[in-house]
Amino acid sequence: MIVCEFRPGLEDIPAAQSSISDVDGHKGILEYRGIRIEELAENSTFLETAYLLIWGALPTADQLTSFEQEVREHRRIKYRIRDMMKCFPESGHPMDALQASAAALGLFYSRRDLHNPIYIRDAVVRLLANIPTMVAAFQLMRKGNDPVPPHDELDYSGNFLYMLNEKQPDPLAARIFDVCLILHAEHTMNASTFSARVTASTLTDPYAVVASAVGTLGGPLHGGANEEVIQMLEEIGSVKNVVPYIEDCLQRKAKIMGFGHRVYKVKDPRATILQNLAEQLFAKFGHDKYYDIAQEIERVVEEKLGGKGIYPNVDFYSGLVYRKLGIPTDLFTPVFAIARVAGWLAHWKEQLAENRIFRPTQVYNGHHNLPYKPIEQR
Ligand code: ACO
Repeated sequence: MIVCEFRPGLEDIPAAQSSISDVDGHKGILEYRGIRIEELAENSTFLETAYLLIWGALPTADQLTSFEQEVREHRRIKYRIRDMMKCFPESGHPMDALQASAAALGLFYSRRDLHNPIYIRDAVVRLLANIPTMVAAFQLMRKGNDPVPPHDELDYSGNFLYMLNEKQPDPLAARIFDVCLILHAEHTMNASTFSARVTASTLTDPYAVVASAVGTLGGPLHGGANEEVIQMLEEIGSVKNVVPYIEDCLQRKAKIMGFGHRVYKVKDPRATILQNLAEQLFAKFGHDKYYDIAQEIERVVEEKLGGKGIYPNVDFYSGLVYRKLGIPTDLFTPVFAIARVAGWLAHWKEQLAENRIFRPTQVYNGHHNLPYKPIEQR
């Protein structure tokens, strides 16, 4: 038996062999299936990128058209799922609503026909199609409104913004949202992807795989950080407060949200693209004072922590983009999940292709041979 040293957070320990995406954290390069993220953000759409991730190659024009059509046809959610969601408390976090709704899909569709390509294709299409509808439906229902049915004429991202804001989206806003989905679709062996792969390795259904990954994504050290970035910007309130705020964080050894990454030691390439998208939105729809605060934070943190490799990560500018698109703060992480479903499904398929159930070991540091003490003596 090989005895390995214990590495908290499994840092630097490979959990799988994967050809889905790759990060060079020192050069700031992210690739999906070998294609640089900048190229995909410039030229692709979210559904084309999802196809690339899940099936391993860019689709032909015919393949893409049928994939888009299948997803479009499956956008409606079952009325029983909608009615179940109506019973969720309005004060509940939308990530919890999404996790429960994604898991509920498993109740409706035949389970675990994992060797059948039709089952796999169906599950991929259904999850990609239903998750945005669930996010938008919960948002409207918690305001006391009926959900807006999907709009057949609109593409994937335009339709989501339509279901969420109850009006036709501006084309630039819809394109920018689509690029955000591309940027968030996949990112190697992060916590939620690991969670998806562990769940997949038990050969359970893909709805359970996605539900467990959604639960993992929700924490503030992972997908939940973009919400906390906005809360931080609101708390800081003005550019002049940035320096004292950051100095106070450093003194308390508190983390500055939206900064730092286990892998990137330079600015996350997705943060650079998102910053550019934010600027396009501000140019068209008006400036946001929080952007000035964000830029000042980046300057100060780089000055103080750049030497340690702490730079903006994907979450730092995404919240500013989402705010300008009319997305409420507590929907930022569900929106991240809409995108990341593509990556989780790619990892689900890859895990199934050469599956071995995850069963790591541990370093036991407890007692042995203790006597059982009767309750009255404790
Ligand atoms: N602010 C201040 N210092 C930081 C930050 C930060 N955001 N991130 C890391 N550091 C410092 C730590 O204090 C530590 O310093 P030390 O060595 O002097 O003790 C050092 O950098 C290493 O930090 P770790 O927390 O050990 O790094 P790890 O790789 O475990 O964590 C993580 C990475 C969780 C992303 C961390 O940087 C963090 O908590 N950032 C803030 C939350 C955040 O933005 N999360 C989103 C990540 S991207 C995503 O999940 C989509």
